Amino acid sequence: MGRAETYNDLVEIMIRQVETNTTDMGPEQLEVPVGAYTDPAIWRKEMALIFHRLPLMLALSIELPKAGDYKAMEMCGKPVLITRGKDGVARAFLNVCSHRGAPVAETGSGNCSRFSCPYHGWTFASDGRLMGIAEVEKFGELDRGARGLTALPCEEKAGMIFVVLTPGVPINVEQFLGGMLDDLAYFKLETWHYQGAREIFGANWKIAYDGYLEGYHFAALHAKTLGPVFASGANHFENFGPHMRISFPEKRVPELRAFPREEWWAKEHDGYGFVRTLFPNISVALGVGVGQIAQLIPGPTADKNRTILNYITPHAPRDEAERESFDQAIQFVGDVTNDEDYALGSKIQKGLESGALESVVFGRNERGNQFFHRCVEYYTQGGVEPFPTL
Ligand code: FES
Ligand SMILES: [Fe+2]
Repeated sequence: MGRAETYNDLVEIMIRQVETNTTDMGPEQLEVPVGAYTDPAIWRKEMALIFHRLPLMLALSIELPKAGDYKAMEMCGKPVLITRGKDGVARAFLNVCSHRGAPVAETGSGNCSRFSCPYHGWTFASDGRLMGIAEVEKFGELDRGARGLTALPCEEKAGMIFVVLTPGVPINVEQFLGGMLDDLAYFKLETWHYQGAREIFGANWKIAYDGYLEGYHFAALHAKTLGPVFASGANHFENFGPHMRISFPEKRVPELRAFPREEWWAKEHDGYGFVRTLFPNISVALGVGVGQIAQLIPGPTADKNRTILNYITPHAPRDEAERESFDQAIQFVGDVTNDEDYALGSKIQKGLESGALESVVFGRNERGNQFFHRCVEYYTQGGVEPFPTL
C-alpha cells in the first residue's frame, strides 16, 4: 500500500473516532509500579541497557550541514562529539583527549578544521585522527594511529544522526527503525531549516515521555492551549518495532469529508497531526506551523530529565511576517510543553516519591503508554522474547 492510501485510511479512522467519540483501546489496563519512576537501581539499569546500548538520535543533519561542523554534548553521563568530515561523513566520538582525558571541544556547536585540546594543545582531525603532539621532541613520539579519539558507532539516516554511546556495539539504524525510517524519510528533514533549540528541565524521563504519548490529558491539562483545538483522548496507535506513530485529530477533522478521500493524506495539519516517537527518547511533531523534535535526556539522577526541544521549519523564514509567525508557533509549543507538561511532571515526581501510591495505572485508552512501558521492560530485562505487541 502506498503512502497516500495508508494515510487516507488513518484519516478515516481519525474522522470516525471524533464523530463517535471513541479511541483505540487495548484489552486491559496496565499497572506500573511507582519504582519505575523513582528507584535509582531501575534507572541505572535503563541507562545501561537502553541508553548506552541503543542507537540514539543525537543530532539533526541540518545542525551540522557543512564539512568541519561539529556538536559537542553531554549525553547520559558520556561526553560526545559529533563531527562532519571533509568527506561529508558524520562521525561520533567520545569527547575525550587521548593524552590525559580533557574534552577536546567545549559543549556546543561550531566549525573548525581541527580540535585543539585545551590542556596541552594536542590536535585532532574531524575524523578523530591524532594530528599534532605539542612539543613532540620533549614528549617523545608515540603510535599516533592508536591514539585517535575513541569512535562511537554512528549512522546518518533520513536527516538524523544516530549514535550508540558504547564503543564497538554494532549499529544498524535501518533495522532498528524499520518502517519508521521510510515514514520519516518522506519529510526530507535534511532540507528543513534549523530554527534553534530550547532546553527545559523536568522529572524522571518516563514521566516526561508519557506526556507525548496520549491526548487523554488535553481536555484537562491543556484546557486553554491544545484543548480547544484537538479532540481529547482520540488517538490511533501504530508501532514499528518499539517506535510509534500516534494520530492526534483536531475537533474539525470531520470537515475533511467535504474533500475527496484521495486528498485527505495531503491535508496533514489541516485537521490532524501525528506524533512519531523514536524509542527510547525522541518525540517528533511536525505540525502547528513548525516542527518540534524533543530529545529527552535522562538524569543526572532518576528523578530528573533535561529535554532539548529542537525547532525546525520547512524552509527559512522568507520575510519578517513569516519569521514572526514561526517564532510565535515555537514559543507556543515550547511553552505548552514546559509550563504545562513539564511543570506538572515535576509535581508528579514528588507525588510518586511521597509513598502515596504503589503503582500508577494506564487505562485501555492509554495504549501508547502501555506499549512504551512494556518496551522499557523488554529492554531492561535484556531483550528476552517476546517483543511487546501494541
Ligand atoms: S589532555 Fe589533551 S593534550 Fe593533554
Ligand atoms: Fe501534553
